[in-house]
Amino acid sequence: MQNKTFAIIKPDAIENNNLGKIIDVIIANKFTILNARLTTMNTRQAEGFYSIHKERPFFKDLIFFMCSGPCMVLELEKINAVNEWRTLIGSTDPKEADNGTIRKDFAESKERNSVHGSDSNENAEIEINYFFKNEI
Ligand code: CMP
Repeated sequence: MQNKTFAIIKPDAIENNNLGKIIDVIIANKFTILNARLTTMNTRQAEGFYSIHKERPFFKDLIFFMCSGPCMVLELEKINAVNEWRTLIGSTDPKEADNGTIRKDFAESKERNSVHGSDSNENAEIEINYFFKNEI
């Protein structure tokens, strides 16, 4: 079944001039880009988006990094989109990511890991709504 996922091309990827290359990978892997927007998150937006991690020790650094420059938020569609995108991006830590994944090819570290992907259909809907359906 065609379904949707939410992706972010993060500030490190843009800073390192990898935005176009990552979009090429998205298209080569037959995702349809339904929506995309370049944005620089403010603290409130980033804290809301990552609120599930607010008790984690890395939360402050994560928010600072996500607000450090522009990122691209995307709504993607494909059959089995959530799992397909998570497989394509690879493990959170690029040192553990499989060859051929986006994080293996572009990420610097677990913190500056180039891309985000929703972890379930439910969260995909919440995250798409957060950036594309609501005024934030
Ligand atoms: P992302 O998929 O955007 O979801 C949460 C983010 O938190 C994750 O990617 C990483 O960038 C970051 N993250 C997860 N675990 C750690 C960690 N142990 N240290 C620092 N950052 C982390």
